[in-house]
Amino acid sequence: MKSILDKQDFSNLDKNEIIELLQLRGSDELNLFKKANKIRLRYRGDRVYLRGIIEYSNICKKNCLYCGIRSGNKNLTRYTIKDEEFYEAVNFAIKHRYGSIVIQSGENTSTAFIDKMTEYIKEIKRISIGKLGITLSLGEQSKETYQRWYEAGAHRYLLRIEESHPELYKKLHPQDDIHDFDKRYRCLVDLKEIGYQLGTGIMIGLPYQTIEHLADDLIFMKNLDIDMCGMGPYIEHPDTPLYKYKNNLLPIKERFSLTLKMIAILRLMMPDINIAATTAMQAIDPMGREKALQAGANVLMPNITPKKYRDEYLLYKNKPNIDKNPDDNICCIESRIRIAGFRIGYDEWGDSLHYFRNKKGI
Ligand code: 5AD
Ligand code: SF4
Repeated sequence: MKSILDKQDFSNLDKNEIIELLQLRGSDELNLFKKANKIRLRYRGDRVYLRGIIEYSNICKKNCLYCGIRSGNKNLTRYTIKDEEFYEAVNFAIKHRYGSIVIQSGENTSTAFIDKMTEYIKEIKRISIGKLGITLSLGEQSKETYQRWYEAGAHRYLLRIEESHPELYKKLHPQDDIHDFDKRYRCLVDLKEIGYQLGTGIMIGLPYQTIEHLADDLIFMKNLDIDMCGMGPYIEHPDTPLYKYKNNLLPIKERFSLTLKMIAILRLMMPDINIAATTAMQAIDPMGREKALQAGANVLMPNITPKKYRDEYLLYKNKPNIDKNPDDNICCIESRIRIAGFRIGYDEWGDSLHYFRNKKGI
């Protein structure tokens, strides 16, 4: 019998075909991962690009119903990294030839925050002599702010849509102005118009989410013509309102395997983009990130946040590595990537080829 995996061209998969792929099991599932890995090797080679991630602050003005650092959670100490600690992390990334860093933070739209980030972006460019690529993951901001950070030297932006169906998005967020699907979508369009390499993503295994939703999420990303993607399994956090659904979720292993399939299918649909093997994968399976790399992901984001802040940036339960220094990680990362069959792209930005192909209008 002819299998869906025998298709020649996966770039225009329709919803039914995606659903069929998401339901593959056993050896068919493994063949899907193999196919995605082959496509990744053909279009992106065997390099894994590193982005050292600095979790700048867990102060967030939002109150997303799934997230451990939501403003309504009083069971954590709020922190903001000090300048010297920030630059120490940047220098760590330079010293270890990471190629790029990601600045991530809870959402903050104050002038002081915007100015601080502008200063950091310029300073990172200066001290790394332009060598470090800069990705921002700083939530929803005005177009002017995005423009300012772009002009300061940031060139990639990650803003997960979290869930691409407005009705489901509503169920996962408080009903108010600052948790508005249309606004978030507008931000994605603004970022693209400014010229950022655009990254988005979703969580997988959320309450109410079906396989049809997931298929639509992939089509959403394809239609938005993204350059980068970070998706991960939803992992419940006890101090959040969504925790009450903990007994109605897919088993955690199922969320993990669905995430691998989502990565693989997206790789087939968009062969030249960057796809991250996210930390949440490792929270479920100690080899989770390696498995994601073997299913089509090509970017890894080692945490370089100073150790003392790590247990306060718990978006979800069991976030790994909080008891490790950045130094503990580097050889570990290198050997793990090698064992998984890939090489680190040291000192390389590892930009999304998709972005440049589009710019040239090819
Ligand atoms: N489980 C998994 N991922 C989560 N995030 C927030 N809360 C959770 C959770 N409980 C993700 C969101 C956000 C990113 C920074 O962390 O997708 O965009
Ligand atoms: Fe804030 Fe992001 Fe968490 Fe929402 S998911 S509460 S915006 S850090």
